Order: sequence, then structure tokens, then C-alpha cells
Amino acid sequence: MLSREDNELITQTNPGTPMGDLIRRYWVPALLSEEIPRNDCAPARVKLLGEELVAFRDSQGRIGLIGEHCAHRGTSLFFGRNEECGLRCVYHGWKFDVDGNVLETPAEPSGSDFARKLHHTAYPTHEANGVIYAYLGPREKMPLFPNYEWTQVPLEYSYVTKCLLECNYLQGLEGECDSSHLSFLHRSFTNESNQPVYKSDPSPVYDTEDTDFGVRLIATRNFDDQHYVRFSAFVMPVYGCVPAGRKTNELEGYEIHTYVPADDTHCWRYDIGFHRGRVVQPEEVHRRKQINPDYTKVRNARNNYLQDRQKQKTVNFTGIDDFLNHDGCATESMGAIFDRTKEHLGISDKAVIAVRRFLLATAKDLQASKEPPHLVRDPAHNWFPHIDCFAHLVPRNLPWQKKFDFLTVAAQKENPMSYAARKKAAS
Ligand code: FES
Ligand SMILES: [Fe+2]
Repeated sequence: MLSREDNELITQTNPGTPMGDLIRRYWVPALLSEEIPRNDCAPARVKLLGEELVAFRDSQGRIGLIGEHCAHRGTSLFFGRNEECGLRCVYHGWKFDVDGNVLETPAEPSGSDFARKLHHTAYPTHEANGVIYAYLGPREKMPLFPNYEWTQVPLEYSYVTKCLLECNYLQGLEGECDSSHLSFLHRSFTNESNQPVYKSDPSPVYDTEDTDFGVRLIATRNFDDQHYVRFSAFVMPVYGCVPAGRKTNELEGYEIHTYVPADDTHCWRYDIGFHRGRVVQPEEVHRRKQINPDYTKVRNARNNYLQDRQKQKTVNFTGIDDFLNHDGCATESMGAIFDRTKEHLGISDKAVIAVRRFLLATAKDLQASKEPPHLVRDPAHNWFPHIDCFAHLVPRNLPWQKKFDFLTVAAQKENPMSYAARKKAAS
């Protein structure tokens, strides 16, 4: 359990809060490329860390992420005209560029230099494999964009979905640090494709390791005369990297589930996946069918996730379709911001506890002016082979470090080109 003070500290992310300050020091997903697909197309609203923003792609393809409310008298720039390298407010025609410069104030007398004295909120962006990331922290502290493996593979080797989770970001993120729920919440009575999860023991042994990027999470289950081991990773500040879990030997890539606060009671869940050596097939992204065009979930709290009680008896543990909705039901039904003074943590929550500790410690350190970990400043060290996720059967009685080495070598053998190319690029 957490004290009331720590629960507030770790869940509140508006400007000026300790956790808000911490998350703002990293690049986080802000929107999908598909939301502003073409130059001069309509802008998109972006709610991020309690801030109301609008994104647009200008005539030269540059991306702007600027304050939604016009610097003049606050009209929403979502309704603005995206034209000739700027977004023009519909009220009195003020025009803003991607850097927040006020280009024109046409209702002012000609010759006025009023515009030059103004600057509008604007944040740097970086687009990679269908996701537009943003940095909302102090400019002088901006790190390099981290070249995670999922941002470096060819576009057709990766996929991404986005949806709104109607609760605090931490509830979603904690679900990624909790391997034991796979044996229950996601259990299928009919699908045999992931036997080690469903048929091995439901109480995995956990190991955790604090690292330079966050926390490595290891869950080990007995399965016949072997161990079924799942390596996951919490990566600062809101990334949960998990084995995709569709088959036993998952070495070809993994999924990254990201929970970016929209405000304190909503977050954006981005599910990014990638393969190291092959193109993604459309049917692999079955999750898309669960998401409405406005990124709300088809199955949500208001329709009880369309739970089917008959299915719950015969098909799966919840009677609800799709992992995405299992997670949504479990985490949203805790309430918008769960009161962690009321919980009762067990041995199975070891990884959740490790991640909370890491986040709380780094947020408190930052308040004491200690720089957070995993901010990339050196281009020669902008790659991360040690952030790796696997689900695999391995011999018993090896310490987890040996299992990690064993699987890293196996993955390198399976994808020599990918690893060689990455190493070469980094050297
Ligand atoms: S409120 Fe935007 S130009 Fe006046
Ligand atoms: Fe889950």
C-alpha cells in the first residue's frame, strides 16, 4: 500500500507537480501520425499531462504541437485554418507557426510590432513509425530522442494502436508489471496457442532489477520439466515492454504498452509492436476492431465491456473479448484514481512495488535537483539492446541472469541481420 501523500505524488501529473515534472523530462507519445496525415490537413486536439494542445502538419510537413487556446483571447485553434505554414485562429485571424511564433495579427494596425513580442506555447516533436512523440520539459534539458528498437525497424515491420483509458495512468502501467494476471484475467478456455501461460502454475516467482532505463521484471513459472520465463521491462517514464505472448518462443520482437496521462483521470494507451525480421500482417492487429474512430474503446465502462456471462462459463475467464478490454475492465473499474491506502499487496505484487519505488524515488530526486536516469545525451550510446523482452521455455535451475543471456544469444541467432545492423549503426 502507499501513503496518501505518495499516492497523490505518483498519480498527479499536471504542470508543476513532481510526477508531472518527471514525465516532462522524457519523450512520450502525443498522437498518431494518422491523426494529421497530410500537409495542411485539419489539426488534431491533443490532451497531454493536463495540458490542452493542438497538433498540425504545416505546408512543409513540419509538425506543430502548440497551446490549443489562442494567445489573443483564447479561442480554440482546433477550429483554425491550417494554411501557408501556420495555423490561423478563426476569431481575429492571428497566425501561429510550429515553433509558437506569432506570424500575423491582422486586426492590429499595419506596422504594429505587437506580434514580435509574443510567444505561444509550443513543444518539440519527433515522428517515428506512426507515432508523434513530444517533449514537454524545459528546453535546455531536452534529451536526444531515444532510438528504441521499435522506432528503428522498417515501418511495415511495426504496428501501433491508441485508445483512451478512463482512469489514472498508473493503473494501466501497473498492469504491465504484473505477470500473474495473465493466468487469470487473460485466460482462455479454448485457445491452446499459449499453453505455458495458461497451463503452468499461476503463481510465478518474480525477480526484479533496477537498471539504467527503469526496472527489469522477470516472472518464472514451472512448466513440465522446464521453466517458462517472461522478461518484461518498465522503461522510464511510462513504457511497459512485454513479450507479445502469442507463442512459446517469442524472440522476434515484442510489444510496448505506453500509458501517457491525458489528465489525472484519463490516459492514452499506445500499444506499439514490432517484428525484427518480417512484415506485420493486418490480422495481427486485431485490437483495432476494439477501438472507435475517436480512440474511445468500443467496450467500455458504460456498456459493462459487453460482458457475456455465458462466454464467461465456457470461453474465457472474463466473458469479455480481447486482452485490451480485459485490461480496461480490470483497471478502469478500480475507479478514476485508485486509493492505494486501501489495497493489500501480496508476494505476487513484487514487480508492481519495484516500479512504484523507482518512480517515487526518481520523482523525489528530481525535486531535490538530481537529474533523472535514462536521458540520452550521447549519440554514440543511443541504442538499447539490453531493453529486451522474451517469453520462452528454458532449462530449470539457472539464475535469471543466465536465462537472460541464453535468450539474448538465441534472439541474436534468430535475427543476426537485425542485431548486426543495430550494432554497426551504433558503432
Ligand atoms: S482569439 Fe484568436 S485571434 Fe482573437
Ligand atoms: Fe493484461
